[in-house]
Amino acid sequence: MTDLATALNSAAETVDAELEALLPSAEGSESRLLSAMRYSALAGGKRLRAFLVLSSADLFKVDRRCALRVAAAVELVHTYSLVHDDLPAMDDGTLRRGLPTAHIEFDEATAILSGDALLTLAFEILAEEATHALASVRCELVRSLAAAAGCRGMVAGQTIDLDLENMETDIATITRLQQLKTGALIAFSCESGAILGQAHGHLRRVLHAYAHDLGLAFQIVDDLLDAEGDAAELGKTVGADEEAGKATFVSLMGVDRARMQARMLADQASSHLDPLGDRVEVLRDVARFVIDRRA
Ligand code: IPE
Ligand code: IPE
Ligand code: MG
Ligand code: MG
Ligand code: MG
Repeated sequence: MTDLATALNSAAETVDAELEALLPSAEGSESRLLSAMRYSALAGGKRLRAFLVLSSADLFKVDRRCALRVAAAVELVHTYSLVHDDLPAMDDGTLRRGLPTAHIEFDEATAILSGDALLTLAFEILAEEATHALASVRCELVRSLAAAAGCRGMVAGQTIDLDLENMETDIATITRLQQLKTGALIAFSCESGAILGQAHGHLRRVLHAYAHDLGLAFQIVDDLLDAEGDAAELGKTVGADEEAGKATFVSLMGVDRARMQARMLADQASSHLDPLGDRVEVLRDVARFVIDRRA
């Protein structure tokens, strides 16, 4: 196993334990809702966004306990987005993280509500004092995650993704769609360490540029895996994009050119880090991982 794979696995274990502690236990009269939240949030996943939070926080020597809470919050928002993305009204997915999707395992209403509750729990966690001693820092985390997730971020991307089904489109439009639906949350993950560390200026701008290209590369590879990947390895349905007539880099330029584009973006993401030398080696490894991944 590569050093990065080991580091990713170990971060995933730590984040899973944090999520386990932060999610309410599935007891009492709302146990169905709470079970559905736990079902989706604790089903594994690469925890790449959490890893980016922890890695960027390390750059600014942030207390690990604070960074872990932000990492958990990001994964809760990401999980909610997957639960809603899989609903029949959206991508109509039946397999997620190797398990039946939430609306299949429970029912549609419970899936919708569990997504709502995962999203709001994330902000509750960020606003709590244990996340950072300074209210101004907590407020900036809340504002910044809300902006990344909402109607000028991920939700905007999701609505454009649906609007463009079976429509003619161009690279500029797809780039914007992918930047919003996937890139915005990845960018928040990379920048949250700087927020926690109260860093401004150059380093923060470098992380922003890195995250921009990394997020696009990540989504292009997601589209490639949908076209070419293996459902058992991926833990989610494959071939769904073509069936739904999704507008992706793959649909527009074909597999080979989309792969070249992803590689170019990952290289560009790494090159943004050049002024920072060795201390960001792990982020360079993430850029390589994003294009080489099989799941
Ligand atoms: C899948 O994200 C959805 C996208 C935004 C492309 P991931 O591939 O990170 O999914 P998990 O968290 O590992 O399940
Ligand atoms: C989903 O993109 C992005 C979000 C959930 C915000 P996809 O629809 O391509 O993700 P998968 O392929 O179902 O994981
Ligand atoms: Mg989708
Ligand atoms: Mg989908
Ligand atoms: Mg996809």
